[in-house]
Amino acid sequence: MIIRQATGSDADAIATLLSKSFLEDTAIVRVSIENNPRYSISNMYVIEEKGLSEKIAGCLRITPFEICTRGVKTTMAGIAAVAVQPEVRRRGIAEALMEEALRKMYEMGYPVSMLFPFKQHFYKKFGYAYVGNMMQYEFSPGNLMNFEERSFVRPFTKADKGKVKKVLLQEVQTHGSFTPVRNDGFWDLVVLPKFKDAYVYDTGEVKGYVVLEFYKEATTVIGQPGEQAINIKEFVGLDAAAHRSLWGFLAALGEQVTKIRFLAPADYPLHSFLKEPRERDYRRLFFEYKTFSTLASGFMLRVINVPDSLRNLRHSLELPMDFVIRINDGNLPQNSQNLNVHVHNGETTVEETRRPLQFETEIGIFSQIYSGFLKPSDALKYGFASGELGIIQKLDELFKAPAPFIYQYDIF
Ligand SMILES: CC(C)(COP(=O)(O)OP(=O)(O)OC[C@H]1O[C@@H](n2cnc3c(N)ncnc32)[C@H](O)[C@@H]1OP(=O)(O)O)[C@@H](O)C(=O)NCCC(=O)NCCS
Repeated sequence: MIIRQATGSDADAIATLLSKSFLEDTAIVRVSIENNPRYSISNMYVIEEKGLSEKIAGCLRITPFEICTRGVKTTMAGIAAVAVQPEVRRRGIAEALMEEALRKMYEMGYPVSMLFPFKQHFYKKFGYAYVGNMMQYEFSPGNLMNFEERSFVRPFTKADKGKVKKVLLQEVQTHGSFTPVRNDGFWDLVVLPKFKDAYVYDTGEVKGYVVLEFYKEATTVIGQPGEQAINIKEFVGLDAAAHRSLWGFLAALGEQVTKIRFLAPADYPLHSFLKEPRERDYRRLFFEYKTFSTLASGFMLRVINVPDSLRNLRHSLELPMDFVIRINDGNLPQNSQNLNVHVHNGETTVEETRRPLQFETEIGIFSQIYSGFLKPSDALKYGFASGELGIIQKLDELFKAPAPFIYQYDIF
């Protein structure tokens, strides 16, 4: 097996393999490989296998991203387009590609990597851990409160392009949690053409927008048409009034649609904008519990370089904080060292030490802690880590972050 970086002459073979593996049209895949604002063919890695009739046995892509988290911009390597020829599957080809990708991402200096798994179990072996909890809501427009601010909502026009870009950037810079920063090329080529049913909140300055997709639900009763519904593709509000206005606007669409779907960050307080936080056809079987969303299990994250990821934590802890941590990493053993971490006045220094350990865990659990998904105290409580109780409260404070979130258009 030989693993190498792809070149232009591999484009046809990669497009054929990806279209076969993801059941997409080869011509469309080919265009997206060669003319993509987020990556180029040189971000692809291919594996060759002797005796195979196809030119390549498998491939994957390491997509370069910029993300914002805890108010800091950093780089992130997005793993995607992992595919292997059907006739040579279950022989360890994807595993070999992943091992090589981990080494490459470390060499390239990425602190973290993220991916959307076909199966979480497969990527756990490589230190990736589930962090992408989201809520998939379904509710009727009539359940939304009628906020007065809705009068400031108007249709999006071409002249608003720069304004919505600015709104999203500001939101991601201030509240993003492992959220990709969208580049201009991706906005113009991929996202803005989808702004067909988009609305902005404008009080003289645009401070929010929503992008809708109208669709018809499949028929459930023969002879009756399916429900008219809206899928919220993107919802961004910079202040409280922006959120109220956009929800108020959607509340007024009750004559047109009967259902709204919204994939939201796990910590978004949607219940505060609803009259009754409960499912649409609630029949009062129980009044103790009402369901109004389902858990949507999304992406996984892996810390690639433990010391660098810790250095990126620019925390404003008032008191200086020192602790010794060890993260055991079977795939990248360079990470398995005792590290002294010193946090003070927004600066974090990290160096190897012989001092006794105060917190120890493995890379997957550390990746969940680093993303803010798992509290260090819970890792200790449920036996996923060992450590000193005395420092745990401060560790909880240090790693606190909003729920990791990737906007739907940025899924890779
Ligand atoms: C997903 C995909 C890339 C996996 O490729 P692959 O080369 O078959 O993967 P591997 O052989 O490395 O691993 C697959 C399984 O076979 C097992 N395996 C590896 N070598 C083996 C061997 N010699 N004998 C038996 N099983 C083996 C692996 O342990 C793994 O098991 P697990 O799923 O329980 O962890 C391939 O099925 C594919 O292209 N699918 C369609 C596209 C897709 O879904 N891509 C993923 C996007 S995230």
